[in-house]
Amino acid sequence: MKGIQKILVFDFGGQYTQLIARRIREMHVYCEVVPYSVSMDEILSHNAQGYIFSGGPASVLDADAPSINPRIFEQNVPILGICYGMQLTAHLLGGTVEKAAHREYGKVTAHFNVSPLFKNMPKESIVWMSHTFQVTKVPEGFVSISTSQNCPFCAMQNEEKKIYAVQFHPEVTHTQMGNTLLHNFLYEICGCVGDWTTQYFIDQSVESIRERVGDGHVLLGLSGGVDSSVAAALLYKAIGNHLVCVYVDHGFMRKNETEEVRDVFTRVFPVNLVTVDAKKRFLNELRGITYSEEKRKIIGKEFVACFADAARQLQDVTFLAQGTIYPDVIESGSNKGSAVIKSHHNVGGLPKDVTDKFTGGILEPLRMLFKDEVREVGTALGLPNSLVWRQPFPGPGLAIRIMGEITEDKLFIVRESDAILREEFAVNGLDRKVNQYFTVLTNTQTVGVMGDERTLENVLAVRAVSTSDFMTADWYKVPYDVLEKVSTRIINEVPHVNRIVYDITSKPPATVEWE
Ligand code: XMP
Repeated sequence: MKGIQKILVFDFGGQYTQLIARRIREMHVYCEVVPYSVSMDEILSHNAQGYIFSGGPASVLDADAPSINPRIFEQNVPILGICYGMQLTAHLLGGTVEKAAHREYGKVTAHFNVSPLFKNMPKESIVWMSHTFQVTKVPEGFVSISTSQNCPFCAMQNEEKKIYAVQFHPEVTHTQMGNTLLHNFLYEICGCVGDWTTQYFIDQSVESIRERVGDGHVLLGLSGGVDSSVAAALLYKAIGNHLVCVYVDHGFMRKNETEEVRDVFTRVFPVNLVTVDAKKRFLNELRGITYSEEKRKIIGKEFVACFADAARQLQDVTFLAQGTIYPDVIESGSNKGSAVIKSHHNVGGLPKDVTDKFTGGILEPLRMLFKDEVREVGTALGLPNSLVWRQPFPGPGLAIRIMGEITEDKLFIVRESDAILREEFAVNGLDRKVNQYFTVLTNTQTVGVMGDERTLENVLAVRAVSTSDFMTADWYKVPYDVLEKVSTRIINEVPHVNRIVYDITSKPPATVEWE
């Protein structure tokens, strides 16, 4: 991002590194996460307002521990070390780090001295600790500014050199005054002004997209998901109908979803929309297939084939756009250059004759944004809430929510029941609380009784999970009355279902999806 202040967050492998970056962005300061191993030249080229060293699992006493060039402490740029970042700072500047008698984990009361880092904070409050090693002697020029029962150096500072460090994690919500502390570092110590705003991002992006694309045309695979929808809206604002979107309807979308995408991207953002109706093609290819991995492979392959066919028909497109977002960039470790085309954007593995068309290269207008920022941009651009707040939906869609062979009848059952579940969750205010929820058509039939008739019909499962990253997930404790309403409605309104079960398994050991 040109023309705004920036904080660099050095990643030492801590589980909360992304969280640090998100907190900073929430405070309207732009930041980037870089690996701890970047060169000094690259560090200086960022011209950053401040540096933050993240936590990490290693011990600074190990020979091959992640480290940083000590010249970084001589740049007159404020530094905040967090957990491992504090230990590294102490270690590199001549302090002592030792293994603590007890591993300290969880909530601890910390006492704070007077420091610019602790402005507007009470004398003591709860902080979140997670460490085995700790500083036992601060480097020359430093003083301890915080203590806890077990930790004489919960935080230290060298005010003259503007180097600060904390043993606890200000970025997690368990640390009561964590946000105030980070705010102090940014605004009191680094002199940040808060110039990172949604509007700034939109204006900058529009300008740079226009500059790069010129008179060219851009192709974007639209899936109806949040990222590709926001990318489409942003590109549309920049280049209008020089944007061509291809939407492949594989027939496994949720109720009314295809219609909604079509409506938004013809009426609100009138892009050049190519819809490929491939419902029959997919069903044909999947006939008789019951094994989940095979289903996924066929769907992936057909999807790429449909997208490639559509792309071949387009004469002028020379750029390919993707909805890559910042967590993908950080996690893939490729902080530089363009990421490969992601399979879950459904255009992975395009044939060479198609990729050869994109002589202009790949555009990833959202690659520096976190998901919550993507949503803010989407809202600011005028996308409807239903798209901006859409829950995650797997590329293969409803096909992997039908156990066994996929047929039109089964698709109807899963689509209608999913629509009822979504309606009831929305009515009961659960739609934003629960991260993902859906129905699954099992391949089990059970005996029931309807009226006076014995029935032998399908068991349908309801799944609802809360999670922050989808790597792990908890089953959601949906209130019984909502489950009751959902069950009654599905049984009454959807044919061929006579029993509903609720999935009470977390991930791990289960996964979110059933296939
Ligand atoms: P699992 O089932 O692996 O799901 O616990 C974790 C998250 O990923 C989604 N998911 C997919 N997303 N293409 C996608 O784009 C896929 O093939 C796919 N499979 C699972 C799933 O819905 C959940 O949000």
